[in-house]
Amino acid sequence: MDIHILHFIVVPILLSILITSKSLAQETNTITTTENPLQACYKPYSCANCTAARICRPDPNGSGAFIDYKDFKCTGSTPFCNETTGTCSATPSEQCSVKVIGEHICMKNGVFPHPTTCRKYFQCENYTSTSFNCSSNNIYYDAIKEECTYNAWCNQVSCNGYNGFKRRYTVSNKVSQLFAYCINGQAAVMDRCDGKYVLNETTQMCEAYCSYPGLIEDISDCRKYYQCDPTSIDGVFLKTSRRCPDGFGFSQKRYQCVPIESWCTQSLTLSTTTPVNDVL
Ligand SMILES: *[C@@H]1O[C@H](CO)[C@@H](O)[C@H](O)[C@H]1NC(C)=O
Ligand SMILES: *[C@@H]1O[C@H](CO)[C@@H](O)[C@H](O)[C@H]1NC(C)=O
Ligand SMILES: *[C@@H]1O[C@H](CO)[C@@H](O)[C@H](O)[C@H]1NC(C)=O
Ligand SMILES: *[C@@H]1O[C@H](CO)[C@@H](O)[C@H](O)[C@H]1NC(C)=O
Ligand SMILES: *[C@@H]1O[C@H](CO)[C@@H](O)[C@H](O)[C@H]1NC(C)=O
Ligand SMILES: *[C@@H]1O[C@H](CO)[C@@H](O)[C@H](O)[C@H]1NC(C)=O
Repeated sequence: MDIHILHFIVVPILLSILITSKSLAQETNTITTTENPLQACYKPYSCANCTAARICRPDPNGSGAFIDYKDFKCTGSTPFCNETTGTCSATPSEQCSVKVIGEHICMKNGVFPHPTTCRKYFQCENYTSTSFNCSSNNIYYDAIKEECTYNAWCNQVSCNGYNGFKRRYTVSNKVSQLFAYCINGQAAVMDRCDGKYVLNETTQMCEAYCSYPGLIEDISDCRKYYQCDPTSIDGVFLKTSRRCPDGFGFSQKRYQCVPIESWCTQSLTLSTTTPVNDVL
């Protein structure tokens, strides 16, 4: 066990960089380019529509009604209007979202980039897709952060010249778990490798990929994991399959072998690839 102790210390920092993205998914699902219809004045500071703010002045006749004083477009880094504050904001209000349902095939649930444009992305829930546009011109979808943002690492899958072939979706030089299945030069579906695996284009399989020194779960057997060790070549790591001691399973979250509980015994019962008789 003591060979692992070094990794407990060194790697969680590196690992956290790779894990961050999931939680952002829920925040990005109300992006739009369309506008609310103009609404009547009802409070001093509100929105004329999704991208224009409005100042309304109290009616001097004392009725408590409001009269439109000024409507103006929100611009620059704050292209949206926030209905609560009546001021210009970087993010659109909830009611300004426009959803297109079922435009994409969902192979997994989660958030996926559009295969050919950085202006769009889609979210799969219950294997049904909802499409979203990044809101304004200089905002693009960042598949690592899973949100539309300025300075996004934007990329597209190039299926050009590929037929019946999986292509990895790379974001800048970062390895992503996303891939596209290409048919006749087109991305037929967007998909994502399980666990922390990434697509190896040579084997056309999702595999544990050592891009940092540390430990990666073996998704075919919860008692096993991969150990990635630095080599003399910068950026190249040696991948070794390891097995937890009897009665232990590898927890990616806790980054170590932990006593086997239901999460592992269930997957062992379901698994056809592992002999069950060597479980403690
Ligand atoms: C939103 O309001 C602004 C200001 O009144 C106006 O210029 C713009 O055309 C409106 N947009 C839509 C889509 O109605
Ligand atoms: C005040 O003016 C509004 C229109 O701006 C009108 O609808 C309302 O009836 C007026 N109230 C009074 C008390 O005159
Ligand atoms: C609008 O402003 C309110 C108050 O500051 C804030 O709580 C809310 O998150 C804002 N909405 C958006 C979409 O930025
Ligand atoms: C997805 O399915 C679950 C279980 O059937 C259901 O509770 C949930 O509301 C569904 N979500 C959506 C967005 O349809
Ligand atoms: C996204 O923008 C395109 C135009 O580029 C438009 O046709 C489409 O309706 C928009 N979709 C959403 C979800 O706003
Ligand atoms: C992909 O698989 C090939 C063949 O097994 C192997 O040589 C190569 O190192 C793998 N590439 C990555 C990035 O893991």
